[in-house]
Amino acid sequence: MWMRIGIIGSGNVGRTIADGALRAGHDVRLGARMPEKPELRDWLEQASEAASLSEIEGAAEFGELLVNATTGDGSLEALREAGEENLDGKALLDIANAGTSNEHGFELTYVNDDSLAERIQSEFPDLRVVKALNTMHREVMAAPEKVPGDHTVFICGNDDEAKSQVRELLGDFRWKDENVIDLGDLTAARALEMFVPLWVRLYSALDGQLFNIAVVRA
Ligand SMILES: NC(=O)c1ccc[n+]([C@@H]2O[C@H](COP(=O)([O-])OP(=O)(O)OC[C@H]3O[C@@H](n4cnc5c(N)ncnc54)[C@H](OP(=O)(O)O)[C@@H]3O)[C@@H](O)[C@H]2O)c1
Repeated sequence: MWMRIGIIGSGNVGRTIADGALRAGHDVRLGARMPEKPELRDWLEQASEAASLSEIEGAAEFGELLVNATTGDGSLEALREAGEENLDGKALLDIANAGTSNEHGFELTYVNDDSLAERIQSEFPDLRVVKALNTMHREVMAAPEKVPGDHTVFICGNDDEAKSQVRELLGDFRWKDENVIDLGDLTAARALEMFVPLWVRLYSALDGQLFNIAVVRA
């Protein structure tokens, strides 16, 4: 189903998701702190007519489905900038990971009994947060065929309708339905975010080659 998608964060992931959603026929507005940046003007120029660019608030207002593609440690600030009135009642696909890279890999900001996704949910109770796609390289997110064979994308959240909306977008990105694993409520975001340090070590061990997790069932 056609949707208006508002993307908060205009970096690598934001633009990758925007391009994937545009390929799937959706209308997309990319929300940036500085929409006048030349690289963003260039992105807009090469994108289809269904693409637009604005400040963060404008993208949040535009989207029926929202995507958080900001640096994890800046996500709460970015969502505040988006304006609560533009978030209320909407589904938010949260792709962000909060933490810092160091010589050992990645040190998470929230661990064990906490996660970025839950922090967002708790500060914006009327937003329907769904965590997905944070466990893979951005190139795979909207183009799963870049990794051969069957592999897995996880999804979790407290609101079934919001999860269905995100699942539909994943289908538009050509994720097979049987490769989408619903882990239940948003507390599962703890596990999804805590996978990231392993992902970072894998990325280094595999020398930057594209890969993804495949859950193989008996
Ligand atoms: N790259 C990947 O393959 C990958 C994979 C899985 C998950 N992720 C997660 O996805 C998110 C985005 O990653 P990325 O690779 O796209 O990073 P990126 O290229 O550095 O982009 C980050 C974006 O966040 C924005 N931002 C940072 N702090 C902000 C704030 N306080 N308010 C508003 N906007 C803010 C930046 O805005 P400015 O341009 O104005 O600085 C930029 O648009 C991260 O949380 C990352 O952990 C990335």
